Amino acid sequence: MRKLNELMNLSQKKSLIIGGAGYVGQAAAQALLELGAHVTLLDRDIEAAKTRANQLNQEYPNCVEAYECDLLDEQSTRQVLKDAISNLGGLDILIHTAAFIGLSQIEGWNVPFAKQQVPVWDDALRVNLTSAFIAAQEAQEALQASGNGRIVLMGSIYGMVGPDMSLYDNTPLGNPLAYGTSKGGLIQLMRYLASLFAPSIRVNLISPGGIERGQPDVFIERYKQRTPLNRMAIEEDVKGAIAYLASDLSAYVTGHNLVIDGGWTVW
Ligand SMILES: NC(=O)c1ccc[n+]([C@@H]2O[C@H](COP(=O)([O-])OP(=O)(O)OC[C@H]3O[C@@H](n4cnc5c(N)ncnc54)[C@H](O)[C@@H]3O)[C@@H](O)[C@H]2O)c1
Repeated sequence: MRKLNELMNLSQKKSLIIGGAGYVGQAAAQALLELGAHVTLLDRDIEAAKTRANQLNQEYPNCVEAYECDLLDEQSTRQVLKDAISNLGGLDILIHTAAFIGLSQIEGWNVPFAKQQVPVWDDALRVNLTSAFIAAQEAQEALQASGNGRIVLMGSIYGMVGPDMSLYDNTPLGNPLAYGTSKGGLIQLMRYLASLFAPSIRVNLISPGGIERGQPDVFIERYKQRTPLNRMAIEEDVKGAIAYLASDLSAYVTGHNLVIDGGWTVW
């Protein structure tokens, strides 16, 4: 039987993180690097991705690259994925964390339901959900060639349950319908791919609860009171889940939704 440190060893493994400049993407990059993997960050915000790659390369020399990728553009997304996988010389681990999130400052996004409009809905579905479909198509061959490919998608509690809109009263925050809809879709996309890609590629999803990141105090307080573990999530909470699902610690796990929500969905 292998030891735990052998099961979680990712040395020589090649990974791609879509949305790698984001907060959760950075936690994922840190987790994969600590376990020995090579990491490529893909993000529309190339300046943030390059800055992050430079910082990480100081700690893990020549282990991190960054590519610009706008997931709203199908053709360029396919080309960037092809280029990144070709430059990596293969692929073992694909992580998808890119999304329009609740805190995203996008016109027409964080508005009341009656004002939510189709163009923003379409863009959110494209970034949060459709791009995972495109990435799975582009990565399939390389992940199969790896012999031990893994895909980890990033869902949310709002892919599983509806929002309590009273949490947002008198705050600038919101919870657009397209967000939860895209995350619910990701759960089914994950199950479909887990079935289709077995046994050569494992496909799983993480459903985090809300992450504390400068929200108004009143919102944080309401959120804590609604959560059995009495706090919001922090990025570090996602790190262990990435390490688990990206490594052989979860070698017999596929099609799983790993919920990291402090107990939010048990009530
Ligand atoms: N923040 C939370 O409270 C929370 C809770 C549950 C789940 N999640 C999920 O975690 C994941 C990461 O969230 P985060 O908090 O790190 O958010 P974030 O905004 O820091 O990261 C999202 C990243 O996606 C990128 N992105 C957005 N549109 C893009 C596009 N068109 N093309 C390419 N990249 C694009 C952004 O540039 C950003 O770097 C998301 O899937 C989110 O739904 C977040």
